[in-house]
Amino acid sequence: MLASTTNSCVVSRKQSASVMACPALTSKIAAPSSKLSMHSSFSAKKVSHSEKSSVTAQATISKPVKSPQLISDEPAWSALKKHVDEINKTHLKDLMKDDARVDSLIKESNGIYFDYSRQRVTPKTIKLLLDLAEAANLRGKIDAMFNGVHINSTEDRSVLHVATRARRDQKIVADGVDVVPEVWQVLDKIQSFSEKIRNGEWKGVTGKKLRKVVAIGIGGSFLGPLFVHTALSTDSSCIEKAKGRELRFLANVDPIDVATSLVDLDPEETLVVVVSKTFTTAETMLNARTVRSWLVSKLGEKAVAKHMVAVSTNLKLVKEFGIDPENAFGFWDWVGGRYSVCSAVGILPLALQYGFDVAKEFLEGANSMDDHFKTAPFSENLPVLLGLLSVWNVSFLGYAAKAILPYCQALAKFAPHIQQVDMESNGKGVAIDGTPLPFEAGEMDFGEPGTNGQHSFYQLIHQGRTIPCDFIGFKKSQQPVYIKDEKVANHDELMSNFFAQPDALAYGKTPAELRAEKVKEDLVSHKTFLGNKPSVSLLLPVCSPYSVGQLLSLYEHRVAVQGFIWGINSFDQWGVELGKVLATKVRRVLAGKRKLDPESVGEKKDPNQMNLQNEGFNRSTARLMSWYLASDLDSKSSHRNRQGICSMFSSNGISNVDTSARDAMKAGAMLREGGEEHGPLQWLAGNKTAAATAEAPAGIKEQLRM
Ligand code: F6P
Repeated sequence: MLASTTNSCVVSRKQSASVMACPALTSKIAAPSSKLSMHSSFSAKKVSHSEKSSVTAQATISKPVKSPQLISDEPAWSALKKHVDEINKTHLKDLMKDDARVDSLIKESNGIYFDYSRQRVTPKTIKLLLDLAEAANLRGKIDAMFNGVHINSTEDRSVLHVATRARRDQKIVADGVDVVPEVWQVLDKIQSFSEKIRNGEWKGVTGKKLRKVVAIGIGGSFLGPLFVHTALSTDSSCIEKAKGRELRFLANVDPIDVATSLVDLDPEETLVVVVSKTFTTAETMLNARTVRSWLVSKLGEKAVAKHMVAVSTNLKLVKEFGIDPENAFGFWDWVGGRYSVCSAVGILPLALQYGFDVAKEFLEGANSMDDHFKTAPFSENLPVLLGLLSVWNVSFLGYAAKAILPYCQALAKFAPHIQQVDMESNGKGVAIDGTPLPFEAGEMDFGEPGTNGQHSFYQLIHQGRTIPCDFIGFKKSQQPVYIKDEKVANHDELMSNFFAQPDALAYGKTPAELRAEKVKEDLVSHKTFLGNKPSVSLLLPVCSPYSVGQLLSLYEHRVAVQGFIWGINSFDQWGVELGKVLATKVRRVLAGKRKLDPESVGEKKDPNQMNLQNEGFNRSTARLMSWYLASDLDSKSSHRNRQGICSMFSSNGISNVDTSARDAMKAGAMLREGGEEHGPLQWLAGNKTAAATAEAPAGIKEQLRM
């Protein structure tokens, strides 16, 4: 502990919000070399949750207490605001003429080439942004994260996803405990389990090898694993390792997604992994129950033990669901859902599909970027530079969105994953201490692989709004192709676009250039490109498990940097709660109306008479729901046969299914071809019988048109 003075500041774990908002304080607390450790008063034993809240780590420090301050009140922020006028007088096509400037805005780290010369910045801007980082105590906050401080103050949690990819010999402490051995305990368990599944030592109830995996989860329990799986599924060595195997994801509670993810699967060969940090997420749990019904209907109750495993922090609920906790892979509350791909959430499905070694290589890539982020000076630090540039674009130049444009089909699911990582993390309206922000934080992300995006939304980026772009490319393709007599190999064709687009955006095309090309006068304005549109270019060696890990960590930390600068809590997500609560109320009313009020459905009735306003809904929602509940037999669009899932509501689940999914799907397709409008879920119900539908509540029968 540092010496206490009259102006000392006492810091408790509960006060981590103000710690994070208090630059002077954080630097002292977080510095690894500091004698002050947030964990110094904890014993090495594992601290339970209840213990956690009762323990108060106190530390006195010599700096005076400084009330939390908004970053926008800092002189460094004002200096950047002033600097905007200077930058507005520049154009990228002129800035790009300065070779020294360009050279200073290119960095390389561990095989990643990073060019940000096409950002609307000068060396002075970078200096001012580094000053802003200093003012925000970015170093202290990064250290606090790596040191297990409860920087997720609203949930009183550490933020240690970096520990999920730590090397065995690393030490990362949370709540007084080195968590790395626990991380490796789970990884070892994943390795042993995945090997048993892959080599057939672990078989399904009927003695077949489990070659197919359906991972059920949503949000962070889905998007990260899907991104990595998509990225690896086209790598030739991964293809080899995945031979004969298949990995699917089921996320949406929409029964269409159930149908899509189960079609053509033989339950005897299928392993289901239920992935949910909380094990309470409504969508995931209904999907898990649905798929369990599918398994049990085919293979009997005993199938659950052999065909279902779980990934969760909530082993109690895993057990209640009926999955043996022995067959569960844990993680910890210090791993945020959207940051959990390197925990069992992603590593179990990936190890099952590609083998543990591939998953490990991915972890090593992420770990290498963690090291870089933790140790590189800010002026060379890729996630820090990316984060600062985003803050510059969003908060000073007013560019609210960013496009993520990988010139690599394997990264097709990268943008959707980063959407969650970034927008769920930084889409906040208050500072970490609860003060409303006087500026807008957060950035909107979207993207598609090039060149597909070029033929879609690039028009808007070139001539409409200004949207900073991340161009991501690889030196080598996962699938190199060269056709004799073609001018270039296919990958070079792709990469021609990767190199051309950033310059097209930066330089644009002037009316004078167009006139010199004899463009008809009435088209000149239409064909003019103003240019000055910023982008960064990231060039990596090849889309391997290692580089996918590097990219993941690079973007995760970039998001953290933005949040640290804006002074927000990037690690909670209260904004997703309200909709969930309201949906619960709607669900209750829908269930009631379907079950208890068959009068209100199944017959033509004025939707306005359902009195849903009495249930507490506003007029608009009451009318909308009434319309949904009301019979619409007269409508042409209602003549579809929606019997697909009807047998799910029978007392014995879907035990009446007696055609295979494929046959039923084919049957459904044939029926459609034959002119009858059978829904795409036909296969799931298979051969429906009266027994299958007998116990469905009247309203539900009506909904299904039984
Ligand atoms: O959408 C909110 C959220 O809590 C995400 O943060 C999370 O990734 C997702 O739901 C799924 O949560 P769980 O893994 O607990 O099912």
